[in-house]
Amino acid sequence: MSHPTDFNDRMLSLGLARVSEAAAMASAKLIGRGDEKAADQAAVNAMREQLNMLDIAGVVVIGEGERDEAPMLYIGEEVGTGDGPGVDIALDPLEGTTLTAKDMPNALTVIAMAPRGTLLHAPDVYMEKLAVGPGYPKDVVSLEMTPCERVQALAEAKGCALSDITVCVLERPRHEDMVAELRETGAAIRLITDGDVAGVIHCAEAEITGIDMYMGSGGAPEGVLAASALKCMGGQIWGKLLFRNEYERARAEKAGITDLDRIYARDEMVTADVIFAATGVTDGSILRGIKREPGFLTAETILMRSKTGSVRRMIYRNPVK
Ligand code: FBP
Repeated sequence: MSHPTDFNDRMLSLGLARVSEAAAMASAKLIGRGDEKAADQAAVNAMREQLNMLDIAGVVVIGEGERDEAPMLYIGEEVGTGDGPGVDIALDPLEGTTLTAKDMPNALTVIAMAPRGTLLHAPDVYMEKLAVGPGYPKDVVSLEMTPCERVQALAEAKGCALSDITVCVLERPRHEDMVAELRETGAAIRLITDGDVAGVIHCAEAEITGIDMYMGSGGAPEGVLAASALKCMGGQIWGKLLFRNEYERARAEKAGITDLDRIYARDEMVTADVIFAATGVTDGSILRGIKREPGFLTAETILMRSKTGSVRRMIYRNPVK
């Protein structure tokens, strides 16, 4: 018989979807209003309120920042009623604040939950990321390979021409050399302006999104969230923390990271079964955004569990008072 303190992912999952939905619905009124901070704050408030209703003894391990810089959902904050299993929470109440403020595609609310001590406590630094979807041999590509070698290896494994591979990359000046090298292979590049959790998830649904591989640097916290998603959907991701200065290295050490050069595979970032929920804020290729109709808000959420590999898409319609 299950005990109230067991990580009963099946029972906990719907609660997690509610948390994600509430954050998306709260930020809906700020879509396209040019105010990133207000949109983020609305999502944070709603996410925290809903999280605190769950019967969990939760600790935020990936959150809004360090305690001294984030008043809510800071790293180390305890969430939930305290009656229930000890869990790690990784969250990004609004993944794509700029996308939301500018009403651009693929803004999401994102949250993952796993047994206590099983999610990588990634500091808020950059992470070099590489991801592919399910169905490929283990380590088909690697962070040690050049971008060109990765395209060649993936095309060989997929049995297609290099020009049939599409790579998703965050459009940033720091990626110019990588993009130039990718162009030489003939591969297509889907440049995104923000939102690399969605960028990585795209690889897991390559038939729908057309994206085979994700590469480039982005937030390390987003890397752990993306690893959680891929653990549920299938697919591989590797991440290496990047440090620009001593302060960032010190942050990592404070988070308990001892090997600063380590390359983390998916299951080293998420070492046990995980639940992942994301809700669309603006329309995107994975999820529809919040739809506003007179008197109602409608949200679409993807809810997944790694234990079963189940992927559930849910539409939630809620009257607006
Ligand atoms: P926000 O949710 O904070 O707006 O982050 C969006 C994002 O694009 C992430 O998806 C990505 O990991 C990170 O920012 C990239 O950072 P930078 O904008 O500094 O290149």
